[in-house]
Order: sequence, then C-alpha cells, then structure tokens
Amino acid sequence: MHFLGFEKCGKITFWNVRLHLSLDLQIWLREKDLYYKTLTFSLTCTMFSRKTFLQNAALATAGLGLSSAGLPLNDNLNLLPLPFSNGGIAVDDESYWDMVRLYFPRKGDYINLENGYFSPQASPTLLHHQRREDYINSTTSWYMRREQTAAFETVRTKLADFLGIDSEELAITRNTTESLNNLICGFPWKPGDEVIIGNQDYGSMVAAFHQIQKRLGIKVIIANVPMHPSNDGEVVDAYLKHATSKTKLIHLTHLINLTGQVIPVATIADKAHDMGIEVAVDAAHSIAQLDFKIPDLHADYVAASLHKWLCCPLGNGFLWMKKQHISKIWPLLAPEGQPEDNIRKFQQQGTRPLQSVETISKAIDFHNSIGSALKEARLKYLMHYWVSKVALLSKVTIHTPWEEATRCSAIVNVGIEGFTPAQLAEKLLTDFKIFTVAIDHPIVKGVRVTPHLYTSIDELDAMVNAIQIISKG
Ligand SMILES: Cc1ncc(COP(=O)(O)O)c(C=O)c1O
Repeated sequence: MHFLGFEKCGKITFWNVRLHLSLDLQIWLREKDLYYKTLTFSLTCTMFSRKTFLQNAALATAGLGLSSAGLPLNDNLNLLPLPFSNGGIAVDDESYWDMVRLYFPRKGDYINLENGYFSPQASPTLLHHQRREDYINSTTSWYMRREQTAAFETVRTKLADFLGIDSEELAITRNTTESLNNLICGFPWKPGDEVIIGNQDYGSMVAAFHQIQKRLGIKVIIANVPMHPSNDGEVVDAYLKHATSKTKLIHLTHLINLTGQVIPVATIADKAHDMGIEVAVDAAHSIAQLDFKIPDLHADYVAASLHKWLCCPLGNGFLWMKKQHISKIWPLLAPEGQPEDNIRKFQQQGTRPLQSVETISKAIDFHNSIGSALKEARLKYLMHYWVSKVALLSKVTIHTPWEEATRCSAIVNVGIEGFTPAQLAEKLLTDFKIFTVAIDHPIVKGVRVTPHLYTSIDELDAMVNAIQIISKG
C-alpha cells in the first residue's frame, strides 16, 4: 500500500509520498476506476512536497549554511510513477490525461497553444536533467575524462533502439538545423548538380541550400506542395516532375511546421530511388509526434530535434544516415581522430552539456510509458476536437488537410478573414489569453495552433469560443 512518511535531510523535514502497489491491488484499483486517481494523488503530493522542500532548502542554504549540492534534492521525485498506459487507455479518457497534465507544471496565465517551438521536459525528465547537471558540475573533469564516453554511448544505443535503427548510423547533435547543415554543406556537390526542396520547407534549411547554390553553383529547384491534396500522387508529382539526370537530392519536410501537413515521404523516396536520387528528410516535427520508425521513411538521411516532441532538454537532436553514405559527407566541424566512415564524426562540437544528452534516455522512458501510438492518437483527437467545431464557420479557413488522418496531426493553421496573422494572434492573446503564433509566409497566412498532451478540453473549448466570437465580429 502507499503510505505517507517524513524523511530527514540535514535539518530539513519534508513530506515524501511513496507508492507501493502490489499487482493485485493495481488490478483492483483499475477495476474500480481508481488507479489513475491514486497515481494522481501521489503525484500531486510529491509535487507539493518538492515545492515545499525547495523552499525549505533555499532557507536552509541561506540560514544554516547547508550546501544545496549535498542535499538529495531530486531523489524524492524518483519515486514518481511514470504514466503507464499499458495499451488500455482511450484518447478521450480524461482521468488519464488529467494525470499526464500533472507531469508538466506550467507558468503563465495564458492558454498555451504554441507547442510547436519546443516541448517542456516532463517532471521526471527535468529532475534527472538537474541531477545529472549537479553530478557533472561536482565531478567536472573526472566525469569528462572517465565517464562521458560510456554515458554518451549508452544514450546512443537507447535512442537508436527508439528510432528503430543501427546506432552506427546515428549521430547525436544539438538540433535539426545542425544535423541538416552537416548534410547540406557536406554533400559532395558538383557545379550544375540539382536539388529539389519544398516551398514550405523550414527557413534555415532553405537558407543552407541557397548558400550552397551561391558557393558551389548548384541549382535549387522548388516544388509547390499542394495544401489539400486529393491523393498522394499529387504530392509525389509536385517533387518528381522536377527530377532530371542532374538531380542528386530531394529534401522533404515530413510534417510541415507551417500547416501541420504530413507528406507521403516513403512513396516519394521509393520513386526517387528508382531514378537514382537520394532523399533527405527533415523530421523535426514528426519524431515522437507520429508513431513510426526511421526505416518506415525509406530515406537516405533523416534529421530531427529531440527537444520538440520527445520532450528532451533543449539542445538535443540527431542525424541518421545509411552507412553507405557516411564516408562521402563532410562534417561541418572537422572531427579529431574519427575515421571518415564513422558516424561519430558528425558529433564533433567541443565541450558540450552532457547532462542534456544523458537525459534523452529519461525522455524516452516517459514517452514510452504513454506509447507512440496513443500519443499520436491523443494529439489528433485534440486537434480534431477544436477544428471540427470551427472549420465550417464563415470567414474561417483551415490551411491544413485536417480531415485526412494520415495527412495531419496536432498542428493546424487557421485564418480568419479580415485579420492578418499578426492581428489574429494578438487578438487571441489580448482578448482571450490564448497564446498561438502568427505564420506570415508567402504560401501560408494564418495562426498556427498546436495543442500538446497537457492541453485540456476546457482550453480547447476556450479556443473554439474565441474563434466563434472573432469570426462573427
Ligand atoms: C520543420 C522544421 N525543421 C527544422 C526546424 C529547426 O529546429 P531546430 O531549431 O531545433 O534546429 C524546425 C523548428 O521549428 C522546424 O519546424
């Protein structure tokens, strides 16, 4: 059973809630629909105890001269149970999602529907991150010289497993931008080579291709991706109609950040390969938002940021490429002592915050406790919940193929006649306390709305209400 107890730490006393549930009891609680309520109670108490503890610790550090580094600050929360779904949770089981919300404590008196930039770490992840920072800060060069390599390799193996790939094809970088710049700037281009990119690709990748165009004389060709395609063929044609014998690479954005549209990457890749063209994928938004493994994309190169949907600390990303390509790609930063066919050559950064890399493991544990399939289904459910209530309102335009489950996920772009994107985003914030982001792009103009696992139905109702009022005005 669970019990409440007091624990001593120096002169500080704090609440500590432990949860010990036998399997029989778990089954009984589930039958009575009490299991998540029990976990929620435990979680809330533990959160509360941590806040109190931190306050006490601050006082103690100032008044009693205790070293905060000496306190088992985070051990308390190691007792947090992860929100295991065990495959039996429905997308609309709000008692489960209420509990998940507790793992993401939030600040600010606004509704956050701008979750496309990056995701917060869940509490157990954040606490692990802080604890590893404490550890590395107090062991300094000892850690760097004797422990970091093994720690890094452990994470690489775990991340490779999560992504469904061989770890010898995986480099851990800081983000998608760094990963794709390694590829774009290091590809063995020759003057006159051609690359096909999308008209809604992310700005920093477009800039990188244009820089290479200027520097090396390649040709960048832009494919116009239809926003509401009636079938995959339309998207495939948008790219492949530009393919020639000079095309060396096609760059695809798996889940377009401006609109939330998901494009049929594997189909495009298969056709490109038939023509001898390699395929690179920007998966910044699809990794850990959609339920898939890297091999499902049939690509040659895939890059993503792990601080987006995997909820890792800021500054984590990866670059994956097929083994046969590693030797020919020049890394951005010259690697010291790495053979050219070793994927680790793309990890060259100098001294880096290893606590952040180490924490990827905890973020994977948290993600897996919910499960990729359930996470994708819940995000789609939340998106569908609000969009279906406003899509038919006059003056409202949805710039996302939201009715087709395979072409969308959490992100939707909405416009209201009479408002620029900036005006609409500002009105949502000032009149309704809803935070979104204005997308004023040559191809797409509207406000990007992105719920997350911690978004509640009440918050989405507030969004629906706001759009109804604004579109009537
Ligand atoms: C589609 C896409 N690609 C790449 C990036 C860049 O990500 P990062 O800044 O983490 O490198 C973003 C950021 O939002 C994005 O939306």
